[in-house]
Amino acid sequence: MSKRKILVTSALPYANGSIHLGHLVEYIQTDIWVRFQKMQGNECHYVCADDTHGTPIMLRAEKEGITPEQLIDRVWHEHKADFDGFHVAFDHYGSTNSNETKEYSQAIYRKLKAENLIEVRSVEQFYDPVKEMFLPDRFIKGECPKCHAKDQYGDNCEACGTTYAPTELINPYSAVSGAQPERRNSDHYFFKLSDPRCQQFLREWTRGGSLQAEAANKMQEWLGAESENKLSDWDISRDAPYFGFEIPDAPGKYFYVWLDAPVGYMGSFKKLCNLRNEDRGARIEPPLDFDEFWKTDSKTELYHFIGKDILYFHALFWPAMLQHAGFRTPTKLFAHGFLTVNGEKMSKSRGTFITAESYLKQGLNPEYLRYYYAAKLNGTMEDLDLNLEDFVAKVNSDLIGKYINIASRCAGFLTKKFDGKVLPLAGNTLSPREEKTESELLEAGDEIARAYEDRDYSRAIRKIMSLADIANQYVNDLKPWELAKLEGQEAKLHLVCSSAMKYFAILTAYLKPILPTLAEQVEKNLFGVQFTWSNLSSLPLEKIQPYQHLMSRVDQKQIDAMIEANKQTLAPATDTHSQVRHAEAQQHAITPIAETIGIDDFSKIDLRVAKIVNAEHVECAEKLLKLTLDIGEEKPRTVFAGIKSAYDPEKLKGRMTVMVANLAPRKMKFGMSEGMVLAASGEAPGLFILSPDDGAQPGMRIK
Ligand code: MSP
Ligand code: ZN
Repeated sequence: MSKRKILVTSALPYANGSIHLGHLVEYIQTDIWVRFQKMQGNECHYVCADDTHGTPIMLRAEKEGITPEQLIDRVWHEHKADFDGFHVAFDHYGSTNSNETKEYSQAIYRKLKAENLIEVRSVEQFYDPVKEMFLPDRFIKGECPKCHAKDQYGDNCEACGTTYAPTELINPYSAVSGAQPERRNSDHYFFKLSDPRCQQFLREWTRGGSLQAEAANKMQEWLGAESENKLSDWDISRDAPYFGFEIPDAPGKYFYVWLDAPVGYMGSFKKLCNLRNEDRGARIEPPLDFDEFWKTDSKTELYHFIGKDILYFHALFWPAMLQHAGFRTPTKLFAHGFLTVNGEKMSKSRGTFITAESYLKQGLNPEYLRYYYAAKLNGTMEDLDLNLEDFVAKVNSDLIGKYINIASRCAGFLTKKFDGKVLPLAGNTLSPREEKTESELLEAGDEIARAYEDRDYSRAIRKIMSLADIANQYVNDLKPWELAKLEGQEAKLHLVCSSAMKYFAILTAYLKPILPTLAEQVEKNLFGVQFTWSNLSSLPLEKIQPYQHLMSRVDQKQIDAMIEANKQTLAPATDTHSQVRHAEAQQHAITPIAETIGIDDFSKIDLRVAKIVNAEHVECAEKLLKLTLDIGEEKPRTVFAGIKSAYDPEKLKGRMTVMVANLAPRKMKFGMSEGMVLAASGEAPGLFILSPDDGAQPGMRIK
């Protein structure tokens, strides 16, 4: 079989935030696949980059008092360190803010324009007259037109879940300056996705097998029936000031970040080609040809690993852009689901928004997480859960209890009694038991390879662990520790330990894409042999070095400490310079203070100390918890509060808080709400209910 030529990408993480365990689902998933391909002997290149453009990055840099270039440079190093820490081995990790990405973005745009697929249209948008810029939806806030919750974002209400256009907000204000925004017109550039050529191409592409079944269904939904023309044109320009690439021949207009982001895949690969080709030196790899991987009739394979949230960009805009600009389209998109922690969305207040850095800082082995994710990933778009208790149990029982256990029980006898010599396991020295065990292990190779290829790592792991069970059973039955005590059993002891170590070597090879550094240690320090998929049946295992400790058990205490460290407070103990600046910056963006009122107005509000006697989830309500509040009246009150994102109902029970007791009752879909609990929120994430000091009793008035 000839070597496949494969280019693989993961989505480019935004340069305005830290890498967290959610991101790592994707980078670990991709890295395992790439390592597997390389181990198979295929030519496989893995590129990625930081996604550096857009308004949030521009504003954040400004608030920190640095240039966007300085900000993205700092974040690049942080991201790179996180990926290195988890052994994500890119062949090149670049930045979208590069000459290569700029050139391809502009070239693609020019080609689309020549194809008559670009159109200019006037668009009315909110404009911040103080900051002198157009405002993206998420930088406009105001009162929800439906439930009248204050300070909601421009696209949807966190209190009632309604979605709307920013222009529908009541009393909108700019989250950047606090100013009241004006409506202004400006020319925008559109990619004509509604053009029949695009629609027709995308219909064909959807049927061409490049998408997982679930993704193809989504595409059908977006494209609609053959007769419908459901796709609308895509707005690809933003007005200055903007951090990004200028559109050719359109002064003051910039490419919207999502236009150049996927082009970053090309830019990063081009950079890799340049690095390979420029400084050949002692390189043994052949030079890399950009066109071979990207031109229209390319014979190579191109795969994009992405999260399900960005399917729209990768399945519609990106292939349509490539197709009409004279480039090849992706062979396949591999979309994955979202990570939850302990069954819930990652939450900063609960400490489950776990950064990659904090995990490593606890001294937790990155390969635990690689193993756990692999055990959960099956190649579909289903969400996956990181259950922290299960994480500890699984790592300890599978990796330590099953896999490592084989070597730790047998290696010592070989070094102590036989000078490390491993018996050649062939011919008539083997009993039927050893022959059977070895062939079971070797024969599973194809099945495991297929599972890796399908990205069904959970299937691969189930198979590998069942083989580890077989190997352990062999050791349990043959009991080398007893043979060692008996006279005249040296030959048998030698055979049993040699066999067990061979099984361990094969299992290590199978686990190598998932546990690359552990496998490397085993290869280098124990056997002195490199494992590939094709040399397993004839591994030259002649002698082992003394066994050194390979992996420790996970300690629940490390997990608890990590969660504690991720609980967000305004002044984290481990403040870095940037976090301090960030917190400061966020304080500038506080909601403007409301108009002055007299004490009479204030005393109209009857605030009471309330005891939360019960708190529960409300079925089908995304944001709400149902609270039962005791304020000293005969019957407790029922209040629906939009605090589900921040609080576990179990933890609220018995707590004291503050409620507005004389707010007119409001009928909601789920029942009557008889008041309101107070909670603080701001630009920084999180939502915080109030607590009176110790001693306050239910029903006390707050004046
Ligand atoms: N910058 C864009 C991608 C541009 S690709 C040309 C972006 N960045 S991101 O930082 O928000 O996300 C990077 C990748 O991580 C995405 O594929 C996203 O789906 C994935 N994930 C982010 N949070 C995740 C989880 N909680 N769970 C699983 N994957 C997640 O999107
Ligand atoms: Zn609302």
